[in-house]
Amino acid sequence: CVDLGELRVIKKGRILKMEHKRSQWASNIGFILAAAGSAVGLGNIWKFPGKVAAGGGGAFLICYALIVLFVGFPVMLAELSIGRSTQKNVVGAFRRLNPRWSFAGGIGVLTLFVIMSYYSVVGGWVMKYIAVYLTGADFSAFGNDSSRFSAYFADFISRPAEPLLWGAAFLLLCIYVVVRGVSEGIERVSKFLMPGLFVLLTGIVVYAVTLDGAAEGLKYMLAVDPAKFNSGTVVAALGQAFFSLSVGMGIMVTYGSYVPRTENLAKSAGCICILDSLVALLSGLAIVPVVYITAGPEAMGMGGGFAFMALPEVFSRLPGGVFFGFAFFLLLFVAALTSAISILESCIAWLTEEFGFARLKATLLLVIPMSFLSAGYSLSQGAMDIKLPWFDFTNGVQYLPMNAVMEKFTDNLMIPLGALCFCLFVGWVWGTDNASKEIEASGHSMAWKRLWAFLVKFLAPAVIIVILYFTVGRGQGLS
Ligand code: PHE
Repeated sequence: CVDLGELRVIKKGRILKMEHKRSQWASNIGFILAAAGSAVGLGNIWKFPGKVAAGGGGAFLICYALIVLFVGFPVMLAELSIGRSTQKNVVGAFRRLNPRWSFAGGIGVLTLFVIMSYYSVVGGWVMKYIAVYLTGADFSAFGNDSSRFSAYFADFISRPAEPLLWGAAFLLLCIYVVVRGVSEGIERVSKFLMPGLFVLLTGIVVYAVTLDGAAEGLKYMLAVDPAKFNSGTVVAALGQAFFSLSVGMGIMVTYGSYVPRTENLAKSAGCICILDSLVALLSGLAIVPVVYITAGPEAMGMGGGFAFMALPEVFSRLPGGVFFGFAFFLLLFVAALTSAISILESCIAWLTEEFGFARLKATLLLVIPMSFLSAGYSLSQGAMDIKLPWFDFTNGVQYLPMNAVMEKFTDNLMIPLGALCFCLFVGWVWGTDNASKEIEASGHSMAWKRLWAFLVKFLAPAVIIVILYFTVGRGQGLS
């Protein structure tokens, strides 16, 4: 870390100004791995395979790839350029460029705060499953009875205290890393965990695609069936892409603010998108065919339940299943940890820079209210009947469980809204010329500058407005 501490400007023996020199990534590969660590998370490994399966295999994959290329990547680059240009947290960055747009930074921080409160709960579930595999006691007795695996998960998440304790353990781990700082903590952890994740995932894929009957499952996942292509596929692919790339909430503003001017931003953004999509695809290859072989096509629509219900059952049928299960949940844990760290870091950057708090104090200020929201998310899984109102134009006001409302709030409303603000701001307020100058500051010119400007100004906002029409207007879900 190149943290120079205070930089004093001394004139005629008097200290005129004290400035904080910001933290920076110690190396570009460290930055790319940390940003890819943020992007690769529960979304890739837990949600993506389920979405591919439910969304019609190849049709969803093509749609997803196009969206990453033409919407996700340009928006990510826009965010990174704001961050590096201002060297600020998401709220401070908007304020510096145009104070009237500070609210857009506020949207980002609020979204991250809510995501972090439920992400840590799901991270806790993952830790619980690792513990189960390590002790080896619980699943071995279940045999091939799939209902026992689902009942086990449902029983666990609806307990009042245990999931909360696991969630707290996950949160404490994140705090430990984040308090240690940008380079010492986040960069170091990511450099070590991300390559580990690749190795582990590739191993699982090799194992999965060489199983008997895997070809059928692969065909299911990769074949393009035009009949399965509809507006639902596009909406699901869009929502998944934003969540998965960590764009639309200012994570990339924060991480971009630690990037030195000598680095090629466009290339880095490209690497992050490719790594993220690669991990998603690999997870799909590791999971979809295996579930197809063992649980059959009916299990394909399970979505999030894949990881915690269908997969332990699948693993239990395979030779060496305990190891496969343990490896999988370890992978999910690594992915979840690096993402959660990025969320916490972006919120902490806001508190330390805007209010001058020390890192530890900022962390505590954040985590205390967050714990209440997390508790609400965890308890509303079945332990308690906590309902909150939710509104869309088709169904009007509905009272839904708190966990569902929290996910809808972020996935269906806040992330698209945040992404829209980034596009409109860079496209029309700050200007794509200023942004391209920042992107090219390293001396690498961007040949496709005008195409990028078009995507940020017109295509991406149009696509996001279409998502909002489906989610807020028609009440369709993204999760
Ligand atoms: N991109 C992460 C994932 O795929 C989730 C995430 C969301 C991370 C928001 C940071 C911010 O799981």
